[in-house]
Amino acid sequence: MRMVDIISKKRDGEELSTEEINFFVEGYTKGTIPDYQASSLAMAIYFRDMNDRERSDLTMAMVNSGETIDLSAIEGIKVDKHSTGGVGDTTTLVLAPLVAALGVPVAKMSGRGLGHTGGTIDKLESIKGFHVEITKDQFIQLVNRDKVAVIGQTGNLTPADKKLYALRDVTGTVNSIPLIASSIMSKKIAAGADAIVLDVKTGAGAFMKTDKDAENLAHAMVKIGNSVGRNTMAIISDMSQPLGFAIGNALEVKEAIDTLKGEGPEDLTELVLTLGSQMVVLAKKANTLEEARKKLIEVIKNGKALDKFKLFLKNQGGDSSVVDNPEKLPQAKYKIDVPAKESGFVSNIVADEIGIAAMLLGAGRATKEDTIDLAVGLMLHKKVGDKVEKGEALLTIYSNCEDVENVKAKIYENISIASHAEKPILIHKVITE
Ligand code: URA
Ligand code: CA
Repeated sequence: MRMVDIISKKRDGEELSTEEINFFVEGYTKGTIPDYQASSLAMAIYFRDMNDRERSDLTMAMVNSGETIDLSAIEGIKVDKHSTGGVGDTTTLVLAPLVAALGVPVAKMSGRGLGHTGGTIDKLESIKGFHVEITKDQFIQLVNRDKVAVIGQTGNLTPADKKLYALRDVTGTVNSIPLIASSIMSKKIAAGADAIVLDVKTGAGAFMKTDKDAENLAHAMVKIGNSVGRNTMAIISDMSQPLGFAIGNALEVKEAIDTLKGEGPEDLTELVLTLGSQMVVLAKKANTLEEARKKLIEVIKNGKALDKFKLFLKNQGGDSSVVDNPEKLPQAKYKIDVPAKESGFVSNIVADEIGIAAMLLGAGRATKEDTIDLAVGLMLHKKVGDKVEKGEALLTIYSNCEDVENVKAKIYENISIASHAEKPILIHKVITE
């Protein structure tokens, strides 16, 4: 088999065989196929697309390019949740203990990564003592005993994806549905999930800016998952404005605690209940979505979800007293209100730009070497559709530096006030096949 023939075939719009896809992924991982041929194939896929069979084959070839996590020692159906990423997305912190309180095993592997705020692990590290350096055996024991644990990224998972994603990044081939879908799904499958719930975001703060693109990606991922024996479903959710009120690491931990108490923002709570119901049904801990939702609301009301969060923190060295004393979380030196310049209704909060404002304060990483300031960020007081009076605070800046003029300017540029505005719809669609 020759790589040049595979490239030519795809260039001419033909279907690649399983053997050809495996040949490419294995060769590229080993280094016997050079970057220039891989980038040429990626560009051919970009223009010619792949059918469902090719997409599943590409996904499984990437899964098999490295180690995979075996979670079979954990009892029950392991359901993983994946979000395509947004601004102030606190859902994992809430969902993990919440569904675990209903007996759904949550064996979460998480990374740090780049972005407006840190990843799930960074956020959790704003709790004194909390750590994810546990052995794989401890991880499995904790999930079996208490249904929830988080471990840092271990092993050499999907090296083919790592290499190909980096190549796509510099060859104009990131934005291809078959390549994105196989990239994301390969990582979830390699991490050992039996079933997968996808939260595909749409809008300014999302990877997919339009509903149509988000739906195409969701359908592609759901098809891949189901075709390789992992029960998969997706929801399309709004990311035109940030989710919840908090954007920042410790601030989001506080927001997660509030939500587990039933006192969280309306949109975050609704998203958590929607995703959580799907997870509970996939894990067979409820027969219908309505039953699942009822049970989730029950464990929020009776405090079991919050107790599960405390136990989870304690199990991994964290000071669980922060749950009752959130002032123990890292605190910013300055709290600066940003007042509305006119009266009316908030009509737009541009999610990605507001995320960048949080990053300017130090809440996230632009490069892998950056350090994160866990205390800083933004707390929105108004969301799209809310009434506001001139002089009333739109949000509060939490900063460790007194001069925040650049952040303020960015905020004013990206929050609009009009004479009329409606609340955006949060859940755009549910996709099951
Ligand atoms: N996220 C991924 O993990 N892979 C892609 O290709 C795009 C976004
Ligand atoms: Ca939030």
